[in-house]
Amino acid sequence: MPRERVIRGDEDGGRRGLGGGNSGRPPDHARGGQPFDPDDDAFDDALRPQRLCHVIGQNKVVERVRVMLDATKKRGDTLGHLLLDGPPGIGKTTIATVIPRELSVDIQIAAGPALSAPKDLLPYLTNAGHGSVLFIDEIHRLPPAVEEFLYPAMEDFRVDIALGEGLNARTINMQLKPFTVIGATTRSGMLTAPMRDRFVYREHLDFYELEDLVELVCRNATKLKTDVTREAAHEVARRSQGTPRKANNILIRTRDYATLRHAEGKITTEIAAEALEMLEIDGLGLERQDRRYLQTLMDVFGGGPAGVQAIAHSMSLPADTIEDDVEPFLLRSGLLQRTPRGRVATDAAFEHLGRRRSQGGGEGGPTLF
Ligand SMILES: Nc1ncnc2c1ncn2[C@@H]1O[C@H](COP(=O)(O)OP(=O)(O)O)[C@@H](O)[C@H]1O
Ligand SMILES: [Mg+2]
Repeated sequence: MPRERVIRGDEDGGRRGLGGGNSGRPPDHARGGQPFDPDDDAFDDALRPQRLCHVIGQNKVVERVRVMLDATKKRGDTLGHLLLDGPPGIGKTTIATVIPRELSVDIQIAAGPALSAPKDLLPYLTNAGHGSVLFIDEIHRLPPAVEEFLYPAMEDFRVDIALGEGLNARTINMQLKPFTVIGATTRSGMLTAPMRDRFVYREHLDFYELEDLVELVCRNATKLKTDVTREAAHEVARRSQGTPRKANNILIRTRDYATLRHAEGKITTEIAAEALEMLEIDGLGLERQDRRYLQTLMDVFGGGPAGVQAIAHSMSLPADTIEDDVEPFLLRSGLLQRTPRGRVATDAAFEHLGRRRSQGGGEGGPTLF
């Protein structure tokens, strides 16, 4: 099923130099990297860390990335291919774009769904300079033909190009410069085994600790030249679903609110609480869509078990959106369970929404009669 999100037609590639000569400012088309996310914001790039030392949290991952980078530099080598997986807004693009900067090499940015045939990938491969990075976002969405075209490129830095048809058909081999693929995916489970095996390094980014998000909110408030009290930062962080992008978005919306409501535009706990209420983000950080999902599961399917496709139909949303954007946090916060028979709303979810499980609930199926 096609995704509803807009995919960038990446004509001149996301080619951009991040190497030594480049100023700290992100190039103007850098935002091209993520029109996937409706949450995304013009501020996203301004707030995105530019160097590894500015990346907040994910200490273990950052430490391992630091080791890979240092070893690569010391050997004067090309970095091995790296796969980053984790829910949306968790820092995959951030880490992928920090790496070439640390290595002073170029990066090209491509989006899996926009590469519909090998010919779409070919320019990226031939343009890849020695040691440069090719970032492929949503790599689990590469069509099989493109994936197969990528295998020899990743393994032997070589592509096999088929020319002509019928009797005239022949294949030419083209040698590429050694380069690094950094793949990002919200669903490592959807990646084929041969694809996954081509990555020397694999890192999983998990939801952030509260303290990390508090730091992120405070730091980014400074970047946005806004005052925020520690308590207010805590409140914003607590309701951000453990996700930096959500924390940033709430911060920006809260700042707008503060500008209008507070004489100095300062974000106080009271202002933050009012802004969060206006945004319909509840005490657990659930947004309207998250609550609608749970309500659908409870009202239409008696709390489950229900298949994700059925829930998606009831909500008129693509199942992908539900699996990527809604379910991970609900699972993580114990409001939802995935069972072999389908999704089940937990007692905590019923309690949170102030509902009671109907008799016989849990057996699934719409309770029409
Ligand atoms: N570890 C981090 N430290 C600081 N800011 C972060 C971190 N991870 C993400 N962000 C912020 O969140 C935004 C979204 O992150 P991004 O890397 O685009 O997520 P993903 O690619 O996983 O969807 C970034 O623009 C950045 O401002
Ligand atoms: Mg991204």
